[in-house]
Amino acid sequence: MKILENFPLKDITTMHLDVRCKYFAEYSTVEGLRELLDTQQYRQNRSLHIGGGSNLVFTRDFDGMLLHSRIHYISQIGTNADTVTLEVGAGVTWDDFVKYCIEHEFYGAENLSGIPGEVGASAVQNIGSYGAEVCNIINRVNCIDISTGQVCHFSNDECQYAYRDSIFKHQPAQRYIVTSVEYVLSLKPQFTLTYGPLKSLADKPGLSMRDVRETIISVRNSKLPDPSQTGSVGSFFKNPAIPSQQFAELAATYTTIPHYPAANGLVKVPAGWLIENAGLKGHCIGGAYVYPKQCLVIANNGNATPSDVVALYKHITQVVNDKFGIELHPEANII
Ligand code: EPU
Repeated sequence: MKILENFPLKDITTMHLDVRCKYFAEYSTVEGLRELLDTQQYRQNRSLHIGGGSNLVFTRDFDGMLLHSRIHYISQIGTNADTVTLEVGAGVTWDDFVKYCIEHEFYGAENLSGIPGEVGASAVQNIGSYGAEVCNIINRVNCIDISTGQVCHFSNDECQYAYRDSIFKHQPAQRYIVTSVEYVLSLKPQFTLTYGPLKSLADKPGLSMRDVRETIISVRNSKLPDPSQTGSVGSFFKNPAIPSQQFAELAATYTTIPHYPAANGLVKVPAGWLIENAGLKGHCIGGAYVYPKQCLVIANNGNATPSDVVALYKHITQVVNDKFGIELHPEANII
């Protein structure tokens, strides 16, 4: 077990900001995690468990301990005529898992192709894209409860999944650390092609998951920055859901505003559209800028400081609120 001190976070977070943490430690087994939870460095400091660092914005140095899982395995733990159940270590790269499913002809993860991050975070964040959400394929989430050190399990229902939300985001001091996630995939071809650019695939003879993946990766590449080239956390904001009366007033002025039905009779509008139509496309503060091809992304030109990102995020929130009377909330976890 190695605990690194004054560890730089630039290369382990996709926003690539120049910040450090007091301690950084990785583990590759549940036992290794338990040992870390027993160290002085862990007990005497605040802590945060990170995944692929693709949804985290550190606004200053982190004066505590960061933990990161290297639990890497994919096991088939059950199967029947229609489905297979896989248990996957929390440290597996999400997109490696998607590729594994496609190679083995397991259906259900392909619409989530290309999402950065790791399996553990997929279950916390309820990642979603192109008409799918990971909660549709999660069977059970296995955790360590740090208040007792014991293993515990959450069924899909117990996870209380909603849009980019789960019970794990509402626990004080990150009570549960995800160690593995169980997914149920279909053995029979089953596609979700409701999202605009996927609709045209419905008529393709012999449609395969690879076709779906390729379409999604090409849409992603055309809209989102390449994480290896440009720092960002993907969507910085959640798409807000507003009352239908407020939407009707907005739509009377902005007749082309995209919208989708949301829970409780609310109407969801894309944050990217609001930011673009508030005149903020490409707007920059220092090295942080609104990504012109998808305005809900804040990108780093290589020189952004944490305060540039915070100033831009606050500016966007203010301008969108002034123009549309809608408050944006970050999707990214701002520390
Ligand atoms: N739009 C604009 N201007 C923009 C961005 C979007 O007018 O700058 C419009 C688009 O033309 C479209 C609508 O807004 O009519 C929706 O855009 P898009 O299909 O790109 O999806 P989104 O709602 O902006 C969400 C997710 C993405 C996910 C895509 C595709 C959130 C916060 N974001 O974006 O997730 O890839 O749908 O399913 O829900 C991520 O979480 O990091 C992420 C990228």
